[in-house]
Amino acid sequence: MRNTDTIVILTGAGISAESGLQTFRAEDGLWCGHKVEEVATPEGFARNPQKVQQFYNMRRAQLQDVSPNAAHQAIAGLAGRWRGEIVLITQNVDDLHQRAMEGVTPKGNYACYPMHGSLKRVRCTASEEVSEWDSDLSAEHTCLCCNLRGTLRPDIVWFGEMPYFLEEIGAALDRATLFVSIGTSGSVYPAAGFVQQLRLEKRAHLVELNLEPSAGSQYFHERHYGKATEIVPVFFGGM
Ligand code: OAD
Repeated sequence: MRNTDTIVILTGAGISAESGLQTFRAEDGLWCGHKVEEVATPEGFARNPQKVQQFYNMRRAQLQDVSPNAAHQAIAGLAGRWRGEIVLITQNVDDLHQRAMEGVTPKGNYACYPMHGSLKRVRCTASEEVSEWDSDLSAEHTCLCCNLRGTLRPDIVWFGEMPYFLEEIGAALDRATLFVSIGTSGSVYPAAGFVQQLRLEKRAHLVELNLEPSAGSQYFHERHYGKATEIVPVFFGGM
């Protein structure tokens, strides 16, 4: 690798697990205690907005009790010394990558694309306006944009909705020299398809860092299995 190359990093819930945030598909994961169609689809929200708001209120409140871990910090540290480009694509809706970057000045070009949205933002379903949001959300809230009550929803990409930043992500994948997938089970598209696309194009070196082989593990050239806080700092430490 030359210090001017483009590194594309894809992260999933596994990178935040050791900060204390549950993953989705573990035995005690979020999708064990909650039905996806009830809390992560537009139809579920239309049926029972209160239940959906409660699910995301709980997760938003948890963010106050957690901090970035050594894996988030290893990526931020790399951004502080890498002269080339780093594109961080995250499926996570927590803000731990953003917080790890606080106080870090990227040496080269750095961009972070939270493709599934953010717990710290809400969207008005009437105007599509997005606002920063830190506290609990309920059907009683009035939006600032059109002054309507009950139009605010978490700015989270639900199943059946289009992820954010797909154009920017597609362009970054075209430039990637190294693609590193961290802490994702590889079960949700389009993110799960990035490694397959890159494997076909044969330009980038493909690395998986995860607790266990993901659904697409066979597409990676290099694989390291273990806890993110242990294997991510080691992997990026030498760069
Ligand atoms: P998953 O819960 O599907 O997968 C988490 C992955 O992290 C698994 O492969 C675990 O083995 C791994 N893992 C767990 N602990 C780890 C640790 N300490 N270190 C390293 N790896 C660890 O979560 P995602 O792949 O992120 O979407 O799920 C993708 C999407 O599915 C989410 O963004 C969410 C969900 O439905 C939406 O809600 C739209």
